[in-house]
Amino acid sequence: MTVLVTGATGKTGRSLVPLLQQNGIPHRAASRSGAAPFDWTDPATWDAALEGVTAIYLIAPGNVPDPYARMIAFCERAQAKGVTRFVLLSMSSLPAGPWGHGLVHQWLIDHAVDWAVLRPTAFMQNFSEGPFLASIRDENTIYSNTGNGRVAFIDAADIAACAYAALTAPAPLNRDFTLTGSERLSYDDVAATLTRATGRTITHTHISTEAMAARFVQRGLPELTAQFLAAGYATIATGAEDRSTADVQTLTGQAPTTFAAFATAHAGAWRRA
Ligand SMILES: NC(=O)c1ccc[n+]([C@@H]2O[C@H](COP(=O)([O-])OP(=O)(O)OC[C@H]3O[C@@H](n4cnc5c(N)ncnc54)[C@H](OP(=O)(O)O)[C@@H]3O)[C@@H](O)[C@H]2O)c1
Repeated sequence: MTVLVTGATGKTGRSLVPLLQQNGIPHRAASRSGAAPFDWTDPATWDAALEGVTAIYLIAPGNVPDPYARMIAFCERAQAKGVTRFVLLSMSSLPAGPWGHGLVHQWLIDHAVDWAVLRPTAFMQNFSEGPFLASIRDENTIYSNTGNGRVAFIDAADIAACAYAALTAPAPLNRDFTLTGSERLSYDDVAATLTRATGRTITHTHISTEAMAARFVQRGLPELTAQFLAAGYATIATGAEDRSTADVQTLTGQAPTTFAAFATAHAGAWRRA
């Protein structure tokens, strides 16, 4: 088999590529800046990326407006070139259906013979390299509209291990997996864990959904995307992500990383220069 890894330089892709390497699985690491130049917005780059490929790890790019029609067109071209196995990274809040990543999930159900969909909850990496990093490092606080809602945060490396298991499974899985960590934590709990990992007092500052959206705009996101993301975080306050599953263990045979272990391993991210 040869595996095409899209988003190979991203949070999950950069852990998946070494797993394929260590296990001697032929693969191609694709992204705009990766070893194999690949751009979702430029179909002229697709055929070379697909040459000789039998399985694909599919990641929707966050910076391309409405990428789903492109992803489906890409899957159709991949099937025509002999790809049989597809593993899609979606999200826990989006089932198969007419919205967002769910469109590609539904297409796989309807058209693929061998597929799996990984639906993770929020990544631990959102605190170490994502939207919460700067305020933790510079102001000792996490701003959020998640209230006291809880999330079983997942380490992107655990998602990569699940992707590896799905891509190399001996038989088609043909189902989705809701990937979570094992502990359901509020953002106050996260702040307490970061306090222990950094040796500084880190707090959780509760803000409104409007203020959360404004913070995303300040980070350079378009207004509509910022409102969509802030509304997604608001659902955490209502308990929408307050669950944990055994799906990481089912796929990998390993327990997911704890937030405390993640925080200890990434403590350097929150150190000030
Ligand atoms: N963060 C979370 O908490 C969370 C939770 C659930 C699901 N997810 C899902 O996880 C996925 C990854 O999200 P992320 O924002 O964390 O991104 P990421 O995986 O860290 O990075 C995005 C990847 O896509 C590549 N890319 C971007 N634009 C591209 C383009 N036009 N053509 C080809 N490749 C492109 C980037 O590489 P280059 O720049 O080299 O092209 C990079 O490798 C998203 O689908 C998101 O919905 C995230």
